[in-house]
Amino acid sequence: MPSRVQRLPVRAAFGDTSRRDRWWLQPAVTFLVFTGFIVYATWAALQGEHYSTGGLLSPFYSPVLWGESHNLFGEGAPGWWPESLLSYSPAILILWAPVSFRLTCYYYRGSYYKAFWADPPACSVGEPRKRYLGERHFPLIIQNIHRYTLPFALLLLVFLSLDVWYALQFESVVAGAGRDGRELGLSVGTLVLAVNVILLGGYTLGCHSLRHLVGGSLDVLSGRPLRRKAYGCVTWCNKSHMRFAWASLLWVAFADVYVRLCSMGVWSDIRIL
Ligand code: FES
Repeated sequence: MPSRVQRLPVRAAFGDTSRRDRWWLQPAVTFLVFTGFIVYATWAALQGEHYSTGGLLSPFYSPVLWGESHNLFGEGAPGWWPESLLSYSPAILILWAPVSFRLTCYYYRGSYYKAFWADPPACSVGEPRKRYLGERHFPLIIQNIHRYTLPFALLLLVFLSLDVWYALQFESVVAGAGRDGRELGLSVGTLVLAVNVILLGGYTLGCHSLRHLVGGSLDVLSGRPLRRKAYGCVTWCNKSHMRFAWASLLWVAFADVYVRLCSMGVWSDIRIL
């Protein structure tokens, strides 16, 4: 009788699996949420208006380098901006930092490789290609810039925290003097921006690259109480990295929607204190 020889490794055809669970659900949800976020964020970033109202500033636009309000360097578009080619929006100048940080995040990579190009669609499910190049070849070798995008993400946290401080300040008429002043207060918008910083902080401080930097590169942490503490904090955030990744993604979009609708007069920012 002729023997049947099975060549190894056995390659499953695209979508072949012995899994019985709904393995397709997670990549499908990832695809829908990510696509929705990318479409909305691109639209919002290109608007160049309704990104601030009172002390509130949309996190998509923070920090405003040149712009109508909250600007660091000047009002309106900078002189060198090619207005005839592309309408100016302050978000264009800064969004590269959070976008490159998120796009190259170790967690997101695993998730969008599955959802967007089925590589593989899920664990132990057949994929559509035969060759595996990994992240040691172009173009995916670019993902290694993640560690270099980390300082920018940490800097953004500082600016977003400052935005919460500005959102705590409200205009007031100084009694008797008849002139405008500032007073501390609290509105729903202040809370929206504060929650945004907490979620983004949890996400950024749980970064795998940061964990390596603060202690992962050492063999022994005993005898280094500060590094040990910092490593413990980053590890705590890192354990929930996926949850922080999704919560901060959705909340940052909601924070933009909130500021935008308040700025357009559709919603009113209710003052609590
Ligand atoms: Fe996810 Fe660095 S690994 S932010």
